Amino acid sequence: MTLLTTQRTAPWWRDNLCYEIFPRSFADSNGDGVGDFKGITAHLKYLANLGINSIWLTPFYPSPQADAGYDVSDYCDVDPVFGTLDDFDILLKEAHAYGIRVIIDLVPNHTSDQHPWFKRALAAAPGSAEREWYHFRDGLGENNELPPNNWTSLFGGSAWKRVPGEKQWYLHLFSTHQIDLNWDNPAVRDAFDDILKFWLDRGVDGLRIDAANNLVKAAGLPDVTPENSTMTDQQYRGPMFDQDGVHDIYRRWRKLVNTYDDRVMVAEAFHVQPISRLVNYVRSDELQQAFNFDYQLSQWGATNYRAIIDKYLTNMGTVNAPCSWVTSSHDQVRIATRLGLTTPGATPMGLDSTTEQPNEQLGLDRARALIMLTMILPGALYLYQGEELGLPNHTTMEPRFRQDPRFFDSNGTMIGRDGQRIPMPWKAKAPAFGFSPSDKSWLPQPDSYAGYAADLQEKDKHSTLSLYRRLIALRTQNALGTGSLQWFDSPRNDVLVARNGSVCIYINFGYAPLDLPAGRVIAQSRPGIDKGTQLPGNSAVWLALDEMPHTQA
Ligand code: GLC
Repeated sequence: MTLLTTQRTAPWWRDNLCYEIFPRSFADSNGDGVGDFKGITAHLKYLANLGINSIWLTPFYPSPQADAGYDVSDYCDVDPVFGTLDDFDILLKEAHAYGIRVIIDLVPNHTSDQHPWFKRALAAAPGSAEREWYHFRDGLGENNELPPNNWTSLFGGSAWKRVPGEKQWYLHLFSTHQIDLNWDNPAVRDAFDDILKFWLDRGVDGLRIDAANNLVKAAGLPDVTPENSTMTDQQYRGPMFDQDGVHDIYRRWRKLVNTYDDRVMVAEAFHVQPISRLVNYVRSDELQQAFNFDYQLSQWGATNYRAIIDKYLTNMGTVNAPCSWVTSSHDQVRIATRLGLTTPGATPMGLDSTTEQPNEQLGLDRARALIMLTMILPGALYLYQGEELGLPNHTTMEPRFRQDPRFFDSNGTMIGRDGQRIPMPWKAKAPAFGFSPSDKSWLPQPDSYAGYAADLQEKDKHSTLSLYRRLIALRTQNALGTGSLQWFDSPRNDVLVARNGSVCIYINFGYAPLDLPAGRVIAQSRPGIDKGTQLPGNSAVWLALDEMPHTQA
């Protein structure tokens, strides 16, 4: 077992290799078909062997589970479906014993409608101090039958729900069960200080801040207009996003976090543009990292990746913040699936039997090539459970199994995120593919998952799992995370060539094979790429070069 003490000078989080765990779907210990803490603890050895140095747990707090736990009804406890606080402490202690740090998910933008704060607010009169914890407003129209403004929920429909029998409505930017807190109220700020302290005192190593760019709303909650708002696949701008006032909260939290040793805060600040606005979240007195969603959602292609990498390294560098690279998560269709679509890297809101089906092998080939590019980049890296197995989405799940509120709130127009949240296949031949000691699984697993099972991949030196282990080991040994990237002249415009320290990558985004220079192959996205041979299309290789190629002018 490794100890957490290191000789390094850079803080651990600058090149953090973090593994996102969606607890419901990771490992079930008690046979109820839902993953739990004991299941995670039982797989820490697997994670240590993978070589990651931290895990991020998506919400495990008491919750009606209207949005997979992102609807919290008590911030300082554990939902019985996942275990108890004691089980959490055991997980934390055992993870630390393996040298694995633990980041938890803080959901400050909204509470569940079952949170005592909201129940108290509903029971109180309009205008009361209790209602000030949320955004209650009188409805418009003669009988207050219209919502207070024209905002729409990110999950579809109006962002307002009316209190039955009253003039007042309340704001929910996500599902109707996730009610937005009023961060202009000092009592809310104080309450969250206590929540942060509760978990930091318990020993967690970091916080992932959910919907970090939503907390503060423009004064007066003005209507969305073409002038004050932009909603595209790349940018969310409007009176409910990225308001300057949000930074006071992060400065306050950073002061608090700095009273502890070495903890990290990571922003989920979705589609904040231009990048100079995202950089504001990671200034030296605010959060330390912000996920790089441009990288996650990029379409396949040398030019796209090159531009995003350069943009992030340059801009994050202006405030000396590390980049946080990510290719998959519980919110987006898995990378191996997206890269197998006709437009590789497209970002559908889910897939089902009525939509295009991906080319699974091509998607996997590309995902394996892409992780080789991602792993050579300096900065922190966030992996999503199952990506190390090359898992695709479940792309044919019948609607009757769906659980994501996005599906329901959008009246079925968004298929939702269930397809990337399917329970893990640990064993090819066991019931529920080893996810649970029973045959239960809260979402159905596709039959094809047998072929991706971890126990099969353990035995195959060419498997995706073996590739991830090798890349992680090389990344760690060569300190690539704290290194720097240098581009080389590329022989073709569908190829990228770069170096970090003594490791050089060739990645071929096209189909035509590429002649490789002489050099020792230290990792390859496909078997059979040997010294002096060719690099097939949709693949990548790491070389320890005899002679480095020309640096790009
Ligand atoms: C974040 C989470 C997502 C959740 C939403 C509302 O985007 O990652 O899963 O639905 O916030 O909390």
